[in-house]
Amino acid sequence: MPASAADRALKRILSRDNQARHVAIIMDGNGRWAKKRGLPRTAGHKEGVKAVKRIVEAAVEAHVEALTLYAFSVENWRRPRIEVAAIMHLLYETTKREMREMVEKNIRLTAAGDLDGLSPRRRQILLKAIEKTKNNTGLTLNLALNYSGRAEILEAVRKIAAEVSRRKLALEDIDETMFAGYLQTDGLPDPDLLIRTSGEYRLSNFLLWQTSYTELYITDTFWPDFDRAHFFAALEDYQKRERRFGRVLDREGRPRKS
Ligand code: FPP
Repeated sequence: MPASAADRALKRILSRDNQARHVAIIMDGNGRWAKKRGLPRTAGHKEGVKAVKRIVEAAVEAHVEALTLYAFSVENWRRPRIEVAAIMHLLYETTKREMREMVEKNIRLTAAGDLDGLSPRRRQILLKAIEKTKNNTGLTLNLALNYSGRAEILEAVRKIAAEVSRRKLALEDIDETMFAGYLQTDGLPDPDLLIRTSGEYRLSNFLLWQTSYTELYITDTFWPDFDRAHFFAALEDYQKRERRFGRVLDREGRPRKS
């Protein structure tokens, strides 16, 4: 079988040593994808799940360490009830259906967000999949579910304040590294790359602390159309960027001090 352009891109990605370790994705455009075809919005979400599967497989192929997907935000509850129910159903069914494959593919499932806000049955399925895959050492698939970046930061602040008031922590102990340890992404590196599909230029309350130096990649492609080739194009684009983290670099790309 001849190698496709995507296969060739994958080979180039793997041959370089500046691969993105953690990729985060705002999967936008399911509704517009459906509308364009005269279908109900829920059909767009259903097709979106197929894209999730494709991109998880592509992330495994590209040796990405962590993939965080914005599956449901706290703001998404404001959508019509029928749409919320459809998204929740898809999440629950997909997790259940894909559990065995995640184990086989050495994928570790984790979640960020307020899981207590999910129905007990759904939470249980999710926690079971998290438990079953917790010792896997391949891709970490992190689902942001009932997630809010601001709520996550406030929760960390509350926990830290409680420990300070109980004198378990001193004010001097509070620094960026320890603060990150109180976030729901504890243990994951900050995202190197944030992809947003369907052409919107917003963060939408996603990983607000963690994305301070993340490279952004915005594409007009609707999420259900986003495929392996699109994903590899984003990874290659990332590898061409010069990440300065606020510094000035010399001609060899090393931080310049004087
Ligand atoms: C944004 O498109 C998409 C969502 C709010 C839901 C994303 C959820 C899925 C794709 C299902 C996830 C499943 C798993 C297993 C992770 P939109 O509806 O806002 O699109 P629009 O902006 O065109 O209306």
